[in-house]
Amino acid sequence: MNGVFESEEFRRLIQHTDLEKEPPEEDGSARQAYFLKEASELIREKEEKLGRRMTACVVTFGCQMNERDSEKLRGILALAGYEMTDSEDADLVLYNTCTVRENANIRVYGRLGGLSAYRKKNPEMIIGLCGCMMQEPDEIEKIRKDFRYVRLVFGTHNLHRFAELLVRVLLSDKGEQVIEVAGKDDHIVENLPAERTYLFKSGVNIMFGCNNFCTYCIVPYVRGREKSRKPEDIVREITELARDGVKEVMLLGQNVNSYGRGLLEPCSFAELLQMVEKIDGIERIRFMTSHPKDLSDDLIEAMKHSEKICRHLHLPLQSGSDRILSAMNRHYTSETYLELARKLRREMPDLSLTTDIIVGFPGETEEDFQQTLDVVRKVRYDSAFTFIYSKRSGTAAARMEDQVPDEVVHDRFDRLLKEVQKIGREETSRFEGQTLPVLVERVNREDDSLMTGRTSQNTVVHFPGDCSLIGQIVDVRLDSCKGFYYIGTMTGGNHAAG
Ligand code: 5AD
Ligand code: SF4
Repeated sequence: MNGVFESEEFRRLIQHTDLEKEPPEEDGSARQAYFLKEASELIREKEEKLGRRMTACVVTFGCQMNERDSEKLRGILALAGYEMTDSEDADLVLYNTCTVRENANIRVYGRLGGLSAYRKKNPEMIIGLCGCMMQEPDEIEKIRKDFRYVRLVFGTHNLHRFAELLVRVLLSDKGEQVIEVAGKDDHIVENLPAERTYLFKSGVNIMFGCNNFCTYCIVPYVRGREKSRKPEDIVREITELARDGVKEVMLLGQNVNSYGRGLLEPCSFAELLQMVEKIDGIERIRFMTSHPKDLSDDLIEAMKHSEKICRHLHLPLQSGSDRILSAMNRHYTSETYLELARKLRREMPDLSLTTDIIVGFPGETEEDFQQTLDVVRKVRYDSAFTFIYSKRSGTAAARMEDQVPDEVVHDRFDRLLKEVQKIGREETSRFEGQTLPVLVERVNREDDSLMTGRTSQNTVVHFPGDCSLIGQIVDVRLDSCKGFYYIGTMTGGNHAAG
């Protein structure tokens, strides 16, 4: 695994740390640097004893927020001295979990079971769990009782204390469990190191948590209340990333359109975008996720006039029935959503629109479902993530009557999937024959004479080329649409804006 390391500042902090002294009391990067230095000494000692490198593997479940958190976890592990690997046959395996739907939890336990052969071979192996699922008290109970071999557990509010927790595990040779899941959720620690997966693109958190309490969703309970990072911290991080060769940033938040609420000096999301736009070296800006209720005209204007903001908007619909939208606490109707989609298409005809849809919310009738299909047919999404409603304990929807029977939900899910796939194929093909800027991401996984990249609309394109193009934005003619991707031909070299 060849990551790209971020945060020279953290390295400097470690250099200036004196382990003879007590650790700094205040919970911040200086304290973590202290423990990271301690961890690296412990790991070096172990490596000397074993006569080989110690390895670590971080596995991500769930969304792009988790992907970014995993980069931070890898950054800390790499600084501690571990050799990072993709193989779970490692000295430390950490699962960064998701709990949005129940099957995400089931998958984590299944995967833990799969580690047993490695555990037998390497009894000192450290298995850790972190992320959203660890914010659920029932899961913690289960891990304490039935998964004693999981040595390290921490929640989403404790990620910045990972180095300290790691030291505790490395020092506990009797195999006790180190569990820390409580924490202040108003605390944002800046400057954590990270090991990026890609040289040329990166996620950047602009806010954490969510205040919306959609009635099906567990996120506000596990990620806490919404809090925005200060614009200057975000701009500083992105400036450093740009200096490091990053061309594309994805601004991440559960509801980016409400960015800035609660900041001492107010700043809207549209204003933040304009600041990011000015950063030299950044050529593409994406963001995720937008809530339809908060998408402002200012944002549409900012997008429309921007050279850098990509022509892609992910706008979760969830349902097309006003009755269900109200029961979901979404604060918009199918008509206001459609009006917004029409406005977006009018202002930016080349925009690609994608969405999330849930089927089988409690009380959903065939008529409600038909209304969802109706909105899908009117908006004509480029692609849609479709989900079967999953009952999450503690949420308001879990207490609602009228849970829809499984077979009815599955039947609706199949029908919805067919429809979104049919429309998605048709919409994707609208770019056929056009030449568009493509950011080249990697060598094609099946055919190494092809390179794979994405257009501003986020459409995947494969085209003949070589790996020297990785990280460049090049012109590619989209020759033939193969459903959800294109085969193309490169027509022009490196260029500035995408
Ligand atoms: N059941 C099914 N899907 C859900 N999502 C969130 N909570 C649930 C749930 N309980 C979906 C929503 C959201 C996406 C990230 O996950 O569609 O937009
Ligand atoms: Fe969940 Fe709704 Fe917040 Fe999205 S906006 S994270 S669906 S509560």
